[in-house]
Amino acid sequence: MTQNPSELELAAANPLPTADELAHSWEHTPSLNPATPEAREEVFNSLGFGSVFTDHMAHAIYEEGKGWHSKVIEPYGPLTLDPAAAVLHYGQEVFEGLKAYRHDDGSVWTFRPGYNAARLNASSRRLAIPELTPEDFLASIVGLVRADEVWVPSAPGSSLYLRPFIIATEAFLGVRAAHKYDYLCIASPSGPYFTGGFEGISVWVSPDYHRAGPGGMGAAKTGGNYASSLVPKVMAKDEGFDEVCFLDAATNTNIDELGGMNLFIVYEDGTLATPSLTGNILEGGTRGAILRLLRDRNRTVTEKTINSAQLVADIESGKVSEVFACGTAAVVTPVARIAGEGFDVSLAGGEVTKSIYDQVTAIQLGHEPDPYNWTYKITP
Ligand code: COI
Repeated sequence: MTQNPSELELAAANPLPTADELAHSWEHTPSLNPATPEAREEVFNSLGFGSVFTDHMAHAIYEEGKGWHSKVIEPYGPLTLDPAAAVLHYGQEVFEGLKAYRHDDGSVWTFRPGYNAARLNASSRRLAIPELTPEDFLASIVGLVRADEVWVPSAPGSSLYLRPFIIATEAFLGVRAAHKYDYLCIASPSGPYFTGGFEGISVWVSPDYHRAGPGGMGAAKTGGNYASSLVPKVMAKDEGFDEVCFLDAATNTNIDELGGMNLFIVYEDGTLATPSLTGNILEGGTRGAILRLLRDRNRTVTEKTINSAQLVADIESGKVSEVFACGTAAVVTPVARIAGEGFDVSLAGGEVTKSIYDQVTAIQLGHEPDPYNWTYKITP
């Protein structure tokens, strides 16, 4: 059971410069061909997830001996990569996901950017990638969102999804940490990740595939972990499921995570649990926020080993009343069905899941006060 703030939570609590202080620290080369208001409107009228991109992107380059340089907000467009770029061969890359939200007064805010900055660096350390200062990370977000402010949607459940990432761009086929990297941040106006809304998702527990193992990269946000989730994801989709649940690789018995989301279990006695941070699962910013909100509601919530067979038995006996997934993209999404080899159990969506969703989104959208200092104002 973990109660102390994690290293990431501690790093995320460090004070950040204001958006005005950062706004001009990256160069700005405006797009000569931005989308028309009509084209944007068409995108806003049918918002999906992650398929349309804004007019600009943030971009910086790292070279050994020079550090991060050429920091610029530039027109969105294809990259020129040498075919020998290390990322294309050995997958040396890390990424993040965060959102910009339009508040009712028209201002634009983001949620816990210091957490994403700290996690990007934690992932980079695991992949031998040079770190970016939290100030540079935030300046790229502020510069990009201010440049593309008109792309932040305002419809309920919508946001501007931000995808910062670093790739190894040195042209070299030897297996070692590269000497050259590109950092980019792109932005995509997005609607809900799951189109079924609060109906709940179905989850298939993968019996044979794991996304990460002991000593591996499971705690890092890096493409390889997502690549390893794709075969079981295809299998789950073929069987009609929305998502895959991964068990721990060491024992194949305990719940790790869904690949792109963390899980919470709600017991009928009002207590909750979530898998502990074993080093194999990604420490979600939404997970951390939910832990804090629950504890401040005086709910008992434990981070512990959750045995999958026990979870199924507890759902069947009624001891578990709700299960929900959480993440930046998924926000808080009820799990309505969990199946795997020899079991298939259903859950009704519940009021705890709904109340957590309501509280997290109310803080993100400025509908509720933010005593945690999680929201960060981007627009002037
Ligand atoms: C996120 O929630 O931001 C994620 O990274 C999950 C997924 C879209 C990869």
